[in-house]
Amino acid sequence: MQLIDGKATAAAIKQEIAEEVKARVERGEKRPHLAAVLVGHDGGSETYVAHKVKACEECGFDSTLIRREADVTQEELLQIVAELNSNPEIDGYIVQLPLPKHIDEQAIIRAIDPSKDVDGFHPVNVGRMSLGLPCFLSATPAGILELMRRYEIPTRGKHCVVLGRSNIVGKPVATLMMQKGEPGNATVTVCHSATPNIKEICKTADIIIAALGQPGFVTADMVKPGAVIIDVGTTRVSDPTKKSGFRLSGDVDFENVSPLCSAITPVPGGVGPMTICSLMRNTLLAAEGKVY
Ligand code: GUN
Repeated sequence: MQLIDGKATAAAIKQEIAEEVKARVERGEKRPHLAAVLVGHDGGSETYVAHKVKACEECGFDSTLIRREADVTQEELLQIVAELNSNPEIDGYIVQLPLPKHIDEQAIIRAIDPSKDVDGFHPVNVGRMSLGLPCFLSATPAGILELMRRYEIPTRGKHCVVLGRSNIVGKPVATLMMQKGEPGNATVTVCHSATPNIKEICKTADIIIAALGQPGFVTADMVKPGAVIIDVGTTRVSDPTKKSGFRLSGDVDFENVSPLCSAITPVPGGVGPMTICSLMRNTLLAAEGKVY
């Protein structure tokens, strides 16, 4: 069984990006500049955004964090988005999700200039991805494909089962796995909460991408020997032995599944660290004007 080390791969990619940025700056070009909008004080969002700001430093990017309290109005957020769209200093930006209930998340995403949408959430980027056109790929699916590329996981003609149909992971990763390309060219089945025979379907999978957010959902009896397992779950479960009071739990019963499979991503240290690399890569592409 091969452990797919997302942490080490992410560190190598950030190093590669830092070298590209150094060369840019030496040519007299500007440093890529990522902005993040963070609303409220959700624990998960605070952690993610702090990691994104730290990754900017590691890659030699400039970063700007714009914070608003949870009672911010939709109009004020739209105003911030409009300013970021027209600010030539900012190459790309993200609005950290989820947003408070009184804000229409999709309205905010639609207001982002697609050429600065380094999260790849705007309908234009999602549509371009579906058509196989140049676009900003959303971070988690791009991170999964990059791990498969670097670990030379064969995907052509394989049966890939995706568990979950979210806009952020399940749908885009299913689209990318079926597209022409390497990685890609897989036969894809998407399972979700209304799929009656998930266990039987998983048992036929060469690759399982688990993105349900249900700790330990994928058990050993669902896995064909030799399968590749990509665990996208990052649910916080309480753990009094940890200083933070919680630990991250994947969607896969790692202890019992890992001896069966040919390769597997751990949680933490698998897909998670790769997502931030994808955001950094997209920001560099935005600065270079290589997508739009
Ligand atoms: N919330 C959880 N993941 C993400 C992400 O990749 N981008 C943004 N903007 N919000 C998130």
